[in-house]
Amino acid sequence: MRHLLGIRGLSREEALGILDEAPRFRDVAEQPVPRVPILVGRTVTLLFLEPSTRTQASFQLAARRLSAETLTFSPRSSSLRKGETFLDTARTLTALAPDILVVRTSEAGAPAALARALPGASIVNAGDGAAEHPTQALLDAFTIRERRGALERLRVAIVGDLLHSRVFRSNARLLSMLGAEVRCSGPPTLMPPGLERLGATPFLRVEDALEGADAVMVLRIQHERMHASYIPSEREYFEEFALTEPRLARTNDAIVLHPGPLNRGVEISSEVADGSASVILEQVRNGVAVRMAILAEIARGRFPRKSHG
Ligand code: NCD
Repeated sequence: MRHLLGIRGLSREEALGILDEAPRFRDVAEQPVPRVPILVGRTVTLLFLEPSTRTQASFQLAARRLSAETLTFSPRSSSLRKGETFLDTARTLTALAPDILVVRTSEAGAPAALARALPGASIVNAGDGAAEHPTQALLDAFTIRERRGALERLRVAIVGDLLHSRVFRSNARLLSMLGAEVRCSGPPTLMPPGLERLGATPFLRVEDALEGADAVMVLRIQHERMHASYIPSEREYFEEFALTEPRLARTNDAIVLHPGPLNRGVEISSEVADGSASVILEQVRNGVAVRMAILAEIARGRFPRKSHG
């Protein structure tokens, strides 16, 4: 694996390889010195052009635990604010010779364009527009598989703003590829056409999507990607679509996932977010281990002698 641009393009074997390796990296965190020498002498550059808390912190920690040097660029501190184009910024960064460039951007397809434009670096997509967020999907699949034992024939419901969600697209592709039954629902204005092509079955009523689910993933309304009013009000949204205790009761004792950031009282009630079914903080912890496994997998292909010599 040279790049991780999306779940599209990732094979089932590669995905399972990452999920199988992750526990080993989670154990590293428990060691007195939580570091392994896999990326010694390598630089991992984080180029985050959209806000991020979890993903950025998690990649930073993952890279450091693999002994890489890290550089972080975000819009407020970079020349992008001074009119430099994204590609020029990226070119400048590659002149500093990063081995791996982790990118988050509002432009769908930008990570793939970077991979073509900058042949020296491995590109990892940390979220591109509404298109893909492959590392989030891998950590979600890891969390679900660990909690529920297997992904085959598991029923996973994904509810919320599907239209603007890269987390949804990557998860629908990955979970269906790994044998889960993916059901989805949300306001009709936020359900894009062609959901079946992603491997998901759409339901008009949230309650129907939740019926018998083993895991439920709740998604935030992505106001920042909306150019029109898609929902009447947050209050009405909560009444009709939010994951609440009564709706959760329709599931098969489902675990509850949310990629964050959470909008309590909008897409999820506080009782559910903080309840015993919630694995939201576990997702955050697993995110570091899964991202370590991804960076290590790229290292294995690219720097064989240095990393495993
Ligand atoms: C998601 C993202 O940025 O796509 N968050 C994340 O990576 N943890 C989801 C979101 O912003 O709603």
